[in-house]
Amino acid sequence: MGGMRFAFPVGAAVELSPWELDMADIMVVVVRANQEHLSRYLSWPTKDYGLSAAEAFIRQAQRQYAEEGRLTLGIWEHGQLVGGIGMNNTQWEHRATALGYWLAASAQGRGIMTRAARAVVNELLRFRGFNRVVIAVQPDNRASCAVAERLGFQWEGVSRQVYRHGDRFVDWAIYAMLAADWGDR
Ligand SMILES: CC(C)(COP(=O)(O)OP(=O)(O)OC[C@H]1O[C@@H](n2cnc3c(N)ncnc32)[C@H](O)[C@@H]1OP(=O)(O)O)[C@@H](O)C(=O)NCCC(=O)NCCS
Repeated sequence: MGGMRFAFPVGAAVELSPWELDMADIMVVVVRANQEHLSRYLSWPTKDYGLSAAEAFIRQAQRQYAEEGRLTLGIWEHGQLVGGIGMNNTQWEHRATALGYWLAASAQGRGIMTRAARAVVNELLRFRGFNRVVIAVQPDNRASCAVAERLGFQWEGVSRQVYRHGDRFVDWAIYAMLAADWGDR
């Protein structure tokens, strides 16, 4: 995988890097410390999140990058892991993908995700041949809706009960950006 190593700088102290297996330990530490915060809207950060889950996630990310060019990146600030961002539901045939993301609670409120998502959307729409990027969020997840809105994504409506979250089926608000609308931003 050596050839795939790269990092996007997104601002002075923040960098996006592909996951490597030696990052699994720190992933577990950060996810566990933020488990309650993250599991409010995401299913994968379970109470028993451990090394085998982190390693399986990283192996899958590496395989998906090698096979389909899917980006799955850690977000690092001053060399500390503070979050992640990656492509979901990628349909290369349609040049379309969704983006998922998370931040440690203490890394919120400073625009890190807005900058990270802007960099990834720009990369996909301008340099990697994608035509459509979706951000799908639970409608009451104001912080995440605000990221999509700050980037100029258009609200397209609500998919009802589309995601199983614990014992509930929850709605997703669908926001999307098209290559033609991204332009030179
Ligand atoms: C969704 C999530 C990533 C948003 O984090 P966030 O910190 O609100 O987003 P940003 O990093 O873009 O920061 C925006 C905040 O920084 C402020 N900010 C400061 N400088 C900024 C800048 N240069 N650019 C943009 N915003 C800036 C904004 O005003 C905003 O603060 P506010 O919420 O008080 O208005 C985070 O809440 C999270 O991880 N939640 C749990 C997991 C989750 O829900 N994931 C998404 C599932 S769809």
